[in-house]
Amino acid sequence: MKYTDKVMEHFLNPQNAYSMDNYDGKGYYGSVECGDYIEVYIKVKDNVLTEVSYMVYGCTASVATSSMMSTLAKGKTIEQALKITEDDVENALDGLPEEKRHCSNLGVGALKNAIKNYQGIEVSYEESIF
Ligand code: FES
Repeated sequence: MKYTDKVMEHFLNPQNAYSMDNYDGKGYYGSVECGDYIEVYIKVKDNVLTEVSYMVYGCTASVATSSMMSTLAKGKTIEQALKITEDDVENALDGLPEEKRHCSNLGVGALKNAIKNYQGIEVSYEESIF
């Protein structure tokens, strides 16, 4: 298994990796299989995600994909952020090893749940795991 330079760059220097107290929305997502887990926090102003941060517990790829998710989502409108896919995250990292492709679910799933939380939509336990 070999990680791309981009994955290593984000793993060694994760962007926006911090806990946020005054968030407008917060979402969780975790894998019951590997145990990796993430919390995403968003700040929203005029329908734009002005801040996107996270705390992640997991593997190299989960750290790198969470970091990339945050850089892709920051500055986007709610509608644009909801369109970010696992493939977008993976492509922005120049790919992931086959057995690590599921790691890109973490950040994207938690981001969607954080947006739902901001919108006042209840997120079920089933929607917080994969
Ligand atoms: Fe499961 Fe990374 S090994 S999210």
